[in-house]
Amino acid sequence: MEKLEVLFTEEQLRSKVKELAERINRDYQGKELLVVGILRGAFVFMADLVRNLEMPVIIDFVAVSSYGDDTVSSGVVRILKDLDETITGKHVLLVEDIIDTGLTLKYLCKNLEARGPASLRVCTILDKPSRRRVEFTPDYNGFTIPDYFVVGYGLDCAQRYRNLPSIYILHQECRDICLTKGELGCE
Ligand code: PRP
Repeated sequence: MEKLEVLFTEEQLRSKVKELAERINRDYQGKELLVVGILRGAFVFMADLVRNLEMPVIIDFVAVSSYGDDTVSSGVVRILKDLDETITGKHVLLVEDIIDTGLTLKYLCKNLEARGPASLRVCTILDKPSRRRVEFTPDYNGFTIPDYFVVGYGLDCAQRYRNLPSIYILHQECRDICLTKGELGCE
């Protein structure tokens, strides 16, 4: 069996990004939008998305720590790199590559809401609702997927594969090589 199995091709991603951007263009017509990418995974999707947006756009990034297993239940997430922009009174769109447990966005949205934006919405290219530990529904979602381990288009396994232009399912054997040896090994 191929260890990297295509889940979404470049063409499918391109057309989904266009579709999401059209909705966002309609929803924010005549407004300026502050688009915030969550590092690192969102960088590819965000780059494609913003190039399809038609309103005036400002971009910024935030980096958050992954919670360890011990903190999963508490949902504690730390901000490693905060926004450079002030968001009070601005329309903010958070951009994510994937929503899994929902803990990252639940925390981040609460934190950002407290700063008084004019609006705050979330756009993700992938959603894995079967893995949720807290309730969270994105405003814009590209694809809902089962509990697959996916890489490419910004998504990683031990920091590898982010540069692949499509989204792939990474099968167990390959994931083990990647996680234990830090090698790609099975492209
Ligand atoms: C991934 C993804 C989200 C988060 C989603 O980031 O990019 O930020 O996990 O998971 P959650 O819904 O369970 O909180 P990761 O920590 O792997 O960092 P990365 O973006 O640098 O790959």
